[in-house]
Amino acid sequence: MRRSVFSSRFFIGWAAGVLSSGAIAVALAVWMIFFGGFDASAAKQHAMAVAWVTHKAMRSSVKTRAKDVQSPDAFTPAQVSAGAQEYEQHCIACHGGPAIARAAWASAMIPTPPYLIDSARQWSTAELYTVVRDGIKMTAMPAWGEVEPDQKIWDVVAFLDALPKMSPDEFARLRSQSTEQAAQRGSACDPHARPGACLSE
Ligand code: HEC
Repeated sequence: MRRSVFSSRFFIGWAAGVLSSGAIAVALAVWMIFFGGFDASAAKQHAMAVAWVTHKAMRSSVKTRAKDVQSPDAFTPAQVSAGAQEYEQHCIACHGGPAIARAAWASAMIPTPPYLIDSARQWSTAELYTVVRDGIKMTAMPAWGEVEPDQKIWDVVAFLDALPKMSPDEFARLRSQSTEQAAQRGSACDPHARPGACLSE
């Protein structure tokens, strides 16, 4: 008898706890979704916990999705050079490079695009390919696979793979090659003079 009184009290307390935390969660969601409780402004950093959770979830997502990607064993210097051109046109404004700062407006993004100088030490080439091909939701990182052929994505990966060991001089040499080739193509943009000038090409 005693036992059943205890268990019914326990059950009522447990149910009240579940219902009240559910009600608080719903009230919080309504406040965030309909009453501006969530600050969507990019002028303020994410709360530390939000930044940690989203970054960790992004890394796990990329690692899982890269498992089926077959990466070549090595890249050729021609791929690195072609990748540098791609990088110059599509990436440098946001990500900068050795001795080159990202564009000022790119630093106003949340999350701010990181410098990629040692990204090949943090990611495998299959993972880099996955990030570049598929982009990253809810950030400014585009899915380049939607607009560029696969071969160009691998060229960029070859370039990122070479980046940790690339001196600023070597990077400057590859950039000036890009500028010359852009001029030969009759392009009006001059990426060497202005990072990101060719971004819209
Ligand atoms: C408009 C800005 C923008 C452009 C252009 C851009 N990116 Fe990104 N990229 C980002 C942002 C923002 C992140 C960070 C996302 C995050 O923290 O989850 C990112 C993340 C990355 C990462 C993962 C870095 C890490 O360690 O977390 C790689 C690799 C990368 N970009 C490569 C590229 C390449 C290669 C190009 C050009 C083909 C490119 N990005 C063009 C904004 C950009």
